Amino acid sequence: MSLLDRHHILEKNATLLLAGSLVVVSIGGIVEIAPLFYLENTIENVEGMRPYSPLELIGRDIYIREGCYVCHSQMIRPMRDEVERYGHYSLAAESMFDHPFQWGSKRTGPDLARVGGRYSDDWHVRHLINPQSMVPESIMPPYSFLMDATLSGEHVAESLATHRIVGVPYTDEMIASAQADFVAQADPLGDHDIDALVERYPGAQVRNFDGRPGVSEMDALVAYLQMLGTLVDFSTFIPDASR
Ligand code: HEC
Repeated sequence: MSLLDRHHILEKNATLLLAGSLVVVSIGGIVEIAPLFYLENTIENVEGMRPYSPLELIGRDIYIREGCYVCHSQMIRPMRDEVERYGHYSLAAESMFDHPFQWGSKRTGPDLARVGGRYSDDWHVRHLINPQSMVPESIMPPYSFLMDATLSGEHVAESLATHRIVGVPYTDEMIASAQADFVAQADPLGDHDIDALVERYPGAQVRNFDGRPGVSEMDALVAYLQMLGTLVDFSTFIPDASR
């Protein structure tokens, strides 16, 4: 009697079938999960990635607070249509400092993972104040109140310290200078140590994003949008084939 002929024993006994299924599923599970315990890191190291600057981090908080993720994803899938429209597919490393990540699951508007540098600051400010002024058929809601909400960066150091608890490598120096860096990034003409800021956060864009004095929520949000997807240089990026 071959093994197949004895299959009816399993099929006629629910308990035995259940126990058998469990064994088979566990084998599959172990094969998938066990190697992860032996890998030091499941996210490949990618040159250029750094923690968010204090201004970008607060901009990201505003992005989350306003629910931008409800209409926008930040994850480019490795499919041809996506790559042609949005650019290089997203790498795991690109959201390694995101707590929580902003991949999203809905695209009422376009993916924003690489929107940084695609438009001018002025475009973003006008678009956020009144989306229909830039894209007449847009159904995006206006966020003009961000212009009038001024920020002092009073609690930004605490936000950096909290992110450090969950593994973002903010140094003591970054936390100590967080509020100063926060103000400096949106005020290039003020009396700030911008060289130190850029050294701490390579590639940080230092500009008056909203064109008004002081730091507004608009400054923070636009600073965040303008850095999205700009940290990794994809003209020189080579996927790590050893994994
Ligand atoms: C109700 C859905 C909705 C919400 C909420 C929403 N958007 Fe949009 N967004 C859209 C749509 C639709 C478009 C495409 C039309 C346009 O450009 O206005 C868009 C376009 C954009 C673009 C231009 C992207 C590109 O590549 O052209 C940016 C940037 C953007 N949104 C940022 C934001 C931010 C930041 C927030 C939160 C403050 C936000 N959106 C909230 C629907 C939304």
